[in-house]
Formats: sequence, C-alpha cells, structure tokens
Amino acid sequence: MGVDLGTANTLVWIRDGGLVRDEPSVVAVKSGTSEVILGGQAVGHRAYEMQGRAPAGIEVVRPLREGVIADFEIAEAMIRYFVRDIHGRRHFVKPRLVIAIPYGTNEVQRRAFIDSAERAGARNVYLVEEPIAAGLGAGLNVTASQGSMIVDIGGGTTEIAVLALAGIVSATCLRVAGDSFDEAIVRHIREEYNLLIGPLMAETIKRTIGSARELETEYSLEVRGRDFISGRPRRTIVNSDEIRGALSEPVRQIVQGIQSVLENTPPELSADLTQTGITLAGGGSMLRGLDLAIQEEMDLDVRFAEQPLTCVAQGTGVILGQLDRLAEFLYQS
Ligand SMILES: Nc1ncnc2c1ncn2[C@@H]1O[C@H](COP(=O)(O)OP(=O)(O)OP(=O)(O)O)[C@@H](O)[C@H]1O
Ligand SMILES: [Mg+2]
Repeated sequence: MGVDLGTANTLVWIRDGGLVRDEPSVVAVKSGTSEVILGGQAVGHRAYEMQGRAPAGIEVVRPLREGVIADFEIAEAMIRYFVRDIHGRRHFVKPRLVIAIPYGTNEVQRRAFIDSAERAGARNVYLVEEPIAAGLGAGLNVTASQGSMIVDIGGGTTEIAVLALAGIVSATCLRVAGDSFDEAIVRHIREEYNLLIGPLMAETIKRTIGSARELETEYSLEVRGRDFISGRPRRTIVNSDEIRGALSEPVRQIVQGIQSVLENTPPELSADLTQTGITLAGGGSMLRGLDLAIQEEMDLDVRFAEQPLTCVAQGTGVILGQLDRLAEFLYQS
C-alpha cells in the first residue's frame, strides 16, 4: 500500500487497484481518549461531517498538523483503520507500506511515522519525501540529471523543491498552505463584519470566490456565521476582490518561498528550470489564478500536475511498482 498521509486528506494507493481511498484526515474519538467512535469506523468522511457539530463527549480531531503527526495515538488509529479496511479484507499477510512524509522531517519524526505504521499493522515501512513522490506522480523524470521544480501546496504545508538525480537539491517547507488561506478568510470576515464563520464555510468561500489574481468577472457570495457581538446567527455578502485582498499575504509568502529556493539552487540546475519550469501539485494550488500569479512573479513556465490532488499517492504507487530500483532513495524500517 502507498499512503499520502496529508494534513487535510489521506490517500491510499494499492498496486493492483490504483487509488482506493481519498478521505479527510479526520477522526472522531471519545473526548480525551484515542478511542474511535462508531466502533472504530468514525474516520475520514464520517468524521468530517461531525466537525463543529459533535456533541459533548465526542471530539473530532485532525491528527496531523502542518504535515507532521500531532497526535500519535489517533494518527495510528487512523492508519490502522485504513490498513484493516483495505488490506485486511483480502490478505492475511501484513502489507508493505510506502508512506510519503513531509520534506524536512527529522530522524525522531521519521522513527515515529515508522513505529506508528508498524503498530498499525504494516510489515515493511518505506518513507519517501513528499516532493519526490509528487514529482514521480506528476510524471517528472526525477532520476534524470536535468533539474525540475515541484511546488506542492497542501492543506498544512507548502513544499517547494528542486529535484535531480532522484534527490532534493534545494527545498523548503512552509507552514503556509490551503489552511492558511482559510484562516485569512476567517480573520477578514471577523474583522470586517464582526461575523464568526467556521472552517467549512471559510473553505467554501475560498473555493467558490477565492483568487490570487484579478478576475474577469468578480463574484459575491452570501456568508453565514455567528455575530461576534450579539451571538446570534447572521448572514452577509462578501465579494471576490476583498477575499483576494485577505489572501494576498499567504500568497505572497508562497511566492517568496519559491524565490528563496531558486536563490539557493546551483546555476546549472537553475538553467534547467528555464526549460522544465515549475510543476504545481496539491489542492492549495487550485486557488484560482495562483498559477498565473507565480508565473508572472518568477518568469518561468508554470503547469499543473495532471492530478494535483492525487499525485503524491500516485508517486507512492510508482515506488511500490519499482521498489527494487528505488529502495536506495527511501528511508526504511
Ligand atoms: N478547488 C480548490 N480551490 C482552492 N483550494 C482547494 C481546492 N480544492 C482543494 N483545495 C484545498 O487544498 C487543500 C488540501 O490539499 P491536499 O489534499 O493536497 O492537502 P494535504 O496533502 O492533505 O496536506 P499536506 O500536504 O499539507 O499535509 C485544502 O486546504 C483545500 O481547501
Ligand atoms: Mg500533501
């Protein structure tokens, strides 16, 4: 099994079936415990719907924060759920697991990923750094000597990397990504309208009218939340240009991150990038106009991975199929 254990979504890829799971990285547990409710089944979509609505005694948890495991027991429960659900039904032997992990995780964190996966029922665990998995999944020739750049804007983190010879030549990992866009929207609406909105509402606003660059037609949207002063439910209308203003700071930080990785890239590889350009991956990259904003700022060609949301999982699938050849580039248990 190949797993993209994302802050926002967990994707599972199997060798003979391709993408078999794509679920929110959310778990509902009894408060203060790691006991998953609904008999261990409240993981993913089932738990996502309970967000912000759970009664007392039940907590809806995202066990990964900013790309790393924030709550080990619950993350493990989540991995166990997927391993049992997908692998358990058809096999008796424990699966090999390829897990994509964020760039820049340290030795202790890597150990923790491996331990959690082993306790959750894996036989051998291989860790691959996400930018490499994303590059493989996007069809980049990551083992070539020619350099290429991948920018994966996920929920919690943005990983920016120049790849060559199956390795990461220069890279950075920013704690600014899709979630930061949502948070900027929540803040804007609180400050501008005295209205508190939840994370799901913020995400809806981002997807429907959010943008990084001026639009041909500007849009507006009705937003519902709780009045900050009176405490009562209230609605208001927001429009796309003010949301763009709210998003400009996190967008600027991502552009700045790309700039700094380019500055730290050896000149030979920089020269390659004038040909290979920048490949965007991750759900956060789908913010309207973000590709063009980056293209204009960097003066490099910007294209999307064919499947921006699944290319990391797809990359773990490529690895599963070529473990012999690629094992030397992986971190193993
Ligand atoms: N059409 C869209 N427009 C804007 N943002 C989107 C769109 N679709 C998804 N997103 C955002 O993409 C983010 C999730 O992306 P992705 O699934 O790549 O993250 P992840 O891999 O779980 O996170 P990470 O890599 O940080 O651990 C969320 O913030 C989501 O709101
Ligand atoms: Mg990701």
